Amino acid sequence: MRPLIAGNWKMHGSLAEAASLAGAVRAGAAGAPAAELLVCPPFPYVHLVASQGGAGLAVGAQDCHAAAKGAHTGDVAAPMLKDIGATYVILGHSERRADHAESDAKVRAKAEAALAAGLIPIVCVGESEAQRLAGEAEAVVTAQLDGSLPDGFAAASGVVAYEPVWAIGTGRTPTEPDIAAIHAAIRANLVRRFGKPGETLRILYGGSVKPGNAKAILALPHVDGALVGGASLVATDFLAIAAAA
Ligand code: G3P
Repeated sequence: MRPLIAGNWKMHGSLAEAASLAGAVRAGAAGAPAAELLVCPPFPYVHLVASQGGAGLAVGAQDCHAAAKGAHTGDVAAPMLKDIGATYVILGHSERRADHAESDAKVRAKAEAALAAGLIPIVCVGESEAQRLAGEAEAVVTAQLDGSLPDGFAAASGVVAYEPVWAIGTGRTPTEPDIAAIHAAIRANLVRRFGKPGETLRILYGGSVKPGNAKAILALPHVDGALVGGASLVATDFLAIAAAA
C-alpha cells in the first residue's frame, strides 16, 4: 500500500510560516512520489494551507469535536474542517489525551463524527514509559484500539498511528523489533475486528522520526508510514523522511 507521511505541526508557527512551510513541502512533493504527503497545521492555518492549490499535498487537522454542530464554545466541528478543505483529522493524540483528558470513548465519538463528515481519522495509540517498562505496551495499545476505533473505521480507510508517549519529542525510539512487534499486534487487532479490510489499513509509526532513522523504521513490516512532529516543521527534513518511504 502507498505509505502515508503525515506532519503534525502541533501548536507551532505563524500564518506566514504555515504558508511558506506548506509551499516548500508542496514544491518538493514531486521528489517523493512513492508516498502520500499530509500536513496537519493548527486550526487557524488549515484553510490557508488547503487553499494554496497544487496537487500532491493533503491537509488535515489535529482534532475535532464529537458533535457536528452546537453550543460548544471554542470547539471545531468535523464538517467545518471538511468544508475548508481538510481530508484527514488526527484524533486521540497522547497530548490531547493528557491535556484534555480524552478517554477512548471520547476519541471514538470524535472518530465517528469525522467519518460522518467524510474525513479520514488518524487515531493515535501508544503506551507510556512506565507501561512499556512494566511489559504492558501491547495490552495498552490493544485496549486503546478496542475503545477508540468506531465500527465504520475500516470502510473509510481509517489510519492508526502508534506513538509511544515516551518517544515523542525525546529523540528516543523503541528498538526496531519492538516497533515491529507492536505494529504486528495492531495489524492482528485490525484483522480480528474488521476482517479482510483490516489487512490493508495503514498503520503509522510516530515518535522521534527523523531523516536519519526513517528508512529503517519505514522498512519494518506493517509500518505503512510515519506521523512526524518536530521534523515536519523543517521542509527538507520532512521531505527527506518522505523520500525514505
Ligand atoms: O504526532 C507526532 C508526534 O507526536 C511525534 O512527535 O516530535 O517526536 O516527531 P516528534
